[in-house]
This record gives sequence, C-alpha cells and structure tokens, in this order.
Amino acid sequence: MTEPERQDKDGASPADIRTDIPHPARVYDYWLGGKDNFPADREMAQWVLAMTPETLDTVRANRQWMVRAIRFLCGAGIRQFLDIGAGLPTSPNTYEVAQSAAPGARVVSVDNDPLVYLHAEALPAGNDSTRVVQADMRDVDEVLAAAGDLLDFTQPVALMFVGCLHHLPDSDEPAGIVARYLTALAPGSFLMLSHATDEFAPERTHQTSAEAAQRGAIWIPRGKDDVLRMFNGLELLDPGLVLVSCWRPEGGTPAPDADRAWVYGGVARL
Ligand SMILES: C[S@@+](CC[C@H](N)C(=O)[O-])C[C@H]1O[C@@H](n2cnc3c(N)ncnc32)[C@H](O)[C@@H]1O
Repeated sequence: MTEPERQDKDGASPADIRTDIPHPARVYDYWLGGKDNFPADREMAQWVLAMTPETLDTVRANRQWMVRAIRFLCGAGIRQFLDIGAGLPTSPNTYEVAQSAAPGARVVSVDNDPLVYLHAEALPAGNDSTRVVQADMRDVDEVLAAAGDLLDFTQPVALMFVGCLHHLPDSDEPAGIVARYLTALAPGSFLMLSHATDEFAPERTHQTSAEAAQRGAIWIPRGKDDVLRMFNGLELLDPGLVLVSCWRPEGGTPAPDADRAWVYGGVARL
C-alpha cells in the first residue's frame, strides 16, 4: 500500500495552525496514542479523561467500528470513500483499511484542521487513489467539487461522518448538512455515521461539553433520536443505529464492556 498525495486549492501553511487552542483532530490523536498534538490539546485531552475515563473506550471502539464498517462496505462492492472529518491519519486510517481490503479503492479525506493537510504533505507521494482536502464540512459545494477530482459521483460512494458531526452546533443543522451531501450520491451508495451520545452520563458529558466550549472547542454529544435524524430517513442496515461496539462485532458478540463506548453508529444504503 502506498501513501496519499495532498490536494487543496487554497493550500495551508504552518502559520495557519493555532496550537494555543485545543483542536478536535489533535485531541483525538492524543487519545489514540498519536504524536500529532500540542500542549493545549494534551491538557484538554487529559482533563476530559479525568472527568470521563470512558472517553478512551469510546474513541477506541469508534475507530474499531470504523475499521469493521469500511471492510463491510468493501465487501459490499464499494470502491470510493468520502471521509468527512477524517482527522489525522492515526493508524489504522480509512485509506489503509479500504485499500488493503480493496486495492485501488479511492479515498478522499476532508478535514478543517490545517495540520491534517500538512501531515498529508509530509507523507511519501505515490498514491494516486487518495486525496486530502482541507475544508470545512459545512462548505458542501466546495467539498464535493474538490472530491470530484478523484471520485466519480455517478458511481456508488461511501459517505463517512465518523465522530465528527458532534463538532457542529445545532444551529448548523447537522442533519441538513448530511442531506446536502446525500443529494450528490448515486443509488447504491452508503452513509456511514457515528456520533457521541450524552445518554449514559448526562451530567458529566454536559460538563465536558461546557468546558470544551470555554476552551474554544465544540463538542455536542446527542441523543439517539437526534443521531437517527442525521440519516435523513434512509433505511439502516442491520443492526440499525446502535452503540458502535454492538455493530457487527468480531465473533458476533459484543464485549462485556460494550456500553462504556458512548457513541452510536450505523450504516444506511441509498
Ligand atoms: C473526533 S475526530 C474523528 C476523526 C476520524 N473521523 C475518526 O473517527 O477517527 C473529529 C474530526 O472532525 C474534524 N472536524 C470538526 N469540525 C469540522 C468541520 N467543520 N469541517 C471539517 N472537519 C471538521 C476535526 O478536525 C477532527 O479531525
């Protein structure tokens, strides 16, 4: 497997990177054991862990779900992936999983953190099947135009929102943003979406959310019904929208601590 080449029409420079405020991509990278994070990210990450130790179970289970779902989609014949809010390429990442399951699978990763884009620049060139686009997911037309350089939207695409829509406030209408992407997809495409939930420890998660806001980061865990609305009425594949550890677990049985991962995930077919 080869590494991705970068692509962005606006470009990014180290000067664009605010290291003094925590950024979700880098906080998440810290939790996953990556090295692309700064003191403000680590301080925020450690504070969240002290407050909510279940966060580690949550991010690990979310990543394991992502791997299972991508493999499932490759098995279903999908060869194109549009990974919105892709994050830093902490391994195993989307292009690694997709291209080992389906060599030649095309992957466009989209994120608004300039570090994600610069990271892609530092990787060896030579992978014509992967692009990194620095963009805000709310700029739907811009993202689709950039992704269209690599992806053929007349053919099925897996549209991925893995653990990123909880970084949008209600005022952005996350379900409406997903809907705008869905209109660009051909029949036979899939929507793969996971989202943090506040249902298991409302007080602690809301306190974490408020603290994140004070530090300049948005994190809004939501209830199952709110997450379901983001599927915009599409029919979910079995087992529906469930805690990610309960979605087609390896060996068929969820781990006993599956309910420590507070994130819902599901896959729907267009
Ligand atoms: C929790 S991480 C998830 C990363 C990856 N999808 C995964 O599950 O491993 C959320 C990602 O969403 C990105 N993000 C947040 N708001 C965004 C926005 N408005 N546009 C694009 N990306 C955004 C963050 O930079 C971060 O990389």
